Amino acid sequence: MSILQLDQVGYSYTGIRQRVQVLRDISYQFSPGSVYGIVGRSGAGKTTLLSLLSGLTLPTSGRVLFDGRDLAACDRYRYRSRDVGVVFQSFNLLPSLTATENIVLSMHISGKQYRDYRGHALKLLQKVGIEREKADRRVLHLSGGEQQRVAIARALSYDPAVILADEPTGNLDETTQDQVMAILTQLAHRENKCVIIVTHSPAVARQVDMLYKLAPLQ
Ligand SMILES: Nc1ncnc2c1ncn2[C@@H]1O[C@H](COP(=O)(O)OP(=O)(O)OP(=O)(O)O)[C@@H](O)[C@H]1O
Ligand SMILES: [Mg+2]
Repeated sequence: MSILQLDQVGYSYTGIRQRVQVLRDISYQFSPGSVYGIVGRSGAGKTTLLSLLSGLTLPTSGRVLFDGRDLAACDRYRYRSRDVGVVFQSFNLLPSLTATENIVLSMHISGKQYRDYRGHALKLLQKVGIEREKADRRVLHLSGGEQQRVAIARALSYDPAVILADEPTGNLDETTQDQVMAILTQLAHRENKCVIIVTHSPAVARQVDMLYKLAPLQ
């Protein structure tokens, strides 16, 4: 059973003079427990597709369904803050906050209640391999690979069913890339998350359970 589905989705950006169609008639299905890869040339529409899956943008045609419900008819703020966790290439962490504070903030935004916010955040950081003494360091002073792990921990902070990652291993060396992939794969295989990764890396694409290839329209 798919948890997330693109049903004949199309998307056009509306510019000042013209509409530019980026996606046409995309029907993909995503199930829990699997890692999906989305590949395609630069400009093919991969980030646009993730933004549709994350509920940030609505398709100009077709539907995005979460648990069988059309996102266009759902409370998308609630969907974005509870059901889906997003990892961007640029991390989007708040650099002047510590790793722990970034996660606690995201837990608060979700509106879910926790008994011990800090304890939960520390557990997540441990899970992604951030050493204890770095948990209270400002994100600004962490390496790229460490920041990427914090971004994954933050995406997990409210226990979403779906994790979307845009180039999560971009700019990382091979070993760190493998570590980040191992974390994402375990989340799917051991915790039944639906993990969707956009990547340019052939090494990453080889490790996913299913690959969607996005062909550019022009
Ligand atoms: N806000 C926007 N307004 C107009 N066109 C846009 C906008 N954002 C993206 N585009 C265009 O839509 C197309 C798809 O962009 P998108 O960012 O989804 O590509 P991508 O596959 O993620 O590329 P990359 O691999 O370089 O990250 C590109 O041609 C891009 O120029
Ligand atoms: Mg992109």
